[in-house]
Amino acid sequence: MAEIHFGEHVLNCDSGDTALDTLLKHNVQVPWSCRAGLCHSCLLQATDGDIPPESQRGLNEEQRSDGLLLACQCIPKSTLKLQTLRRALQPMQAIITGTRTVTPTLLELTFSPRLPVNYRPGQFLSLSLNKHEQGTRFTLISRPWKEADLRIFVSRKVGGRFSSWLFDEAKTGQIIWISNIGGECCYQPENQQPLIIFGAGSGISAALAIAEDAEWHHHRSAAQVLLTGDIEGHKHTLSEKSVLQVKDSELEATAETYLSSSLYRDARWILLGKAKPVFRLTSWLGEQNIAAHNILPLAYHTGHSLSP
Ligand code: FES
Repeated sequence: MAEIHFGEHVLNCDSGDTALDTLLKHNVQVPWSCRAGLCHSCLLQATDGDIPPESQRGLNEEQRSDGLLLACQCIPKSTLKLQTLRRALQPMQAIITGTRTVTPTLLELTFSPRLPVNYRPGQFLSLSLNKHEQGTRFTLISRPWKEADLRIFVSRKVGGRFSSWLFDEAKTGQIIWISNIGGECCYQPENQQPLIIFGAGSGISAALAIAEDAEWHHHRSAAQVLLTGDIEGHKHTLSEKSVLQVKDSELEATAETYLSSSLYRDARWILLGKAKPVFRLTSWLGEQNIAAHNILPLAYHTGHSLSP
């Protein structure tokens, strides 16, 4: 029987199962989206073993020679050692493919990495002008199954050198550096719990992108987006009833109605954006005895940018 070695895991592949099937069956978290060889979300790197040719269909020469493969198209015939792409964590050049002023203080930036990267909407990455700078953190709001480029929203920060550069000088064709893609505040297709995704202020676009990701994956339980703040410029394709705008003062009362609904009683709460409402709702949920593993808060602090 073929085996997959992945970090410390040694996993038996059932006949006909892909590497992705095997990893997910054993609760090993790796990104994926289409399961059809189209989106390249599931790219992994083989460090040893025979790579089935069909798992490299559609990859370029450089990717093939680096041992990259699509886990959803890979049915191992013998032992295969796999790892996630290291480059998602290391600095890589990206080319700016577009900038759009959404409001005077909000800019949409799209960029294309030199090589494909694994990510999910809601995860964050660092951007910088130079390879060795620490970089500023931003949340990804692009959907890998729909958009070839990566996309973020940038808030103009008073005294923020990098955000000022993006607003005032960045142009299509310029090179930036990306690194450290990661984070748990995203849709995880293997988890089919009901979802409540809360976006406050600069977290609105990420909340909408995560909900669209869930919908695209045919999430089997209920999913609701709650938003507080200015939603101008935040486009989405979700149904009207799945997105609710809430006044800051009505946050807890609204959350309470979801807690008392049988549809959402066991929901997983993903909370992103402005620190004050995110922390307030997080501690209120804790007081309602919601298990900590069902609350995923990600607060964006001013001056310590993790902002779209
Ligand atoms: S999940 Fe889309 S290519 Fe594998």
